[in-house]
Amino acid sequence: MRRCEMVKDKKEEFKNTAKVAIYPGSFDPITYGHIDIVERALVIFDKVIIAIAENEEKRPLFSVEERLEMVKEIFKDTPNVIVDSFKGLLVNYVAKTNARVSLRGLRATSDFEYEFHMASMNRSLSTRLDTLFMMTSKDYFFVSSRTIKEVARLGGGVEGLVPDLVVTRLREKFRLPVTKRKQIGWDD
Ligand code: PNS
Repeated sequence: MRRCEMVKDKKEEFKNTAKVAIYPGSFDPITYGHIDIVERALVIFDKVIIAIAENEEKRPLFSVEERLEMVKEIFKDTPNVIVDSFKGLLVNYVAKTNARVSLRGLRATSDFEYEFHMASMNRSLSTRLDTLFMMTSKDYFFVSSRTIKEVARLGGGVEGLVPDLVVTRLREKFRLPVTKRKQIGWDD
């Protein structure tokens, strides 16, 4: 193949693949920390595919159908966000799309080791996929799906940390009233 044809091919490939990112995760449930990452990624990428992992081993609180319903509803007015789910290896799912980048949020140094291992393993499984890390915004660096579930389960308020729809779904799930966030001693 002549060099100029190779460059043309590369350009075609670039046009077809470079601007799509996959944002994989459990999203059990989605938080404003996740949403912030998606919104910032849309400044860089034309399209973001939110890929909800169907990993039953993690014993999710919400079924994959429930998580899909919530995330689809939250992004229903954002046409360049696609919401999907996947089973099995991320690299196999990515191979079916035209994405080359996996997007992950980093909250703190404590996230780094897990993320580093995952990115390195994915890279060893497929050199087609690279991982791009975005620092979680300062407003949400303490927010995780795990702590959201714990606080909601114990009756604490999580308003402002997850969308209202998620607050409602958590309330339904735990059959508990999720109260407004309140700091003891401040309002009394
Ligand atoms: O939100 P999470 O739970 O931190 O997301 C983790 C996720 C779903 C991105 C990760 O567990 C994953 O990619 N699972 C699919 C299975 C896989 O590809 N494993 C190999 C990478 S270690």
